[in-house]
Amino acid sequence: MLINNCEIELMQGDITQQNTDAIVNAANKALAGGAGVDGAIHSAGGPTIMEECNKIGRCAEGHAVVTVGGDLPAKYVIHTVGPIYSAGALGQERVLASAYRNSLKLAVAYSISTIAFPSISTGSFRYPLHDAAKIALSTVTEFLKNETHDLHLVRFVLFDEKTFFTYQETLLQLGETS
Ligand code: AR6
Repeated sequence: MLINNCEIELMQGDITQQNTDAIVNAANKALAGGAGVDGAIHSAGGPTIMEECNKIGRCAEGHAVVTVGGDLPAKYVIHTVGPIYSAGALGQERVLASAYRNSLKLAVAYSISTIAFPSISTGSFRYPLHDAAKIALSTVTEFLKNETHDLHLVRFVLFDEKTFFTYQETLLQLGETS
């Protein structure tokens, strides 16, 4: 899908191998590293990423911070913190949308033109996949339509088949309704 000269692309794969200007990490508030995509990024990117995370300290839910990419092909890692899903809790959708929006704002501030996102909050943080895909794709779409930016590519790198097909179905539905 092309919006304001920016391609939204979906692929199944490993985000640590992406040669986009920045990749986004699904981090925790302590920026302490962990499992899932966070563990993969720190392990492939080497210790300089954690050194910068330690200097930054913390990142609130829905916010984003930037570090170097270390040994990764990407120049930057944007660390954002999605909500830990809890059935019936209020405001989770807003927090997840903010995580995507604030990551994109940082990308613009750093003159980044290509960026890769994982599916934030749908692993350890247990956000229901269909809902998360809809929030992710509609937030990115709205940002690209409404904000001034120099982005040429927003790539979603989805790790497993189920996540990839859910995002694909959701993007098709969004395309039909827009
Ligand atoms: N490339 C792309 N996606 C990946 C990769 C990878 N290499 N590895 C896993 N995924 P999660 P969360 C997918 O749990 O739910 C960590 O411990 C994974 O299959 O990584 O936001 C942090 O430190 C899933 O689809 O992130 C936090 O404490 C998606 O990435 C917490 O987990 C997100 O799963 C964050 O939980």
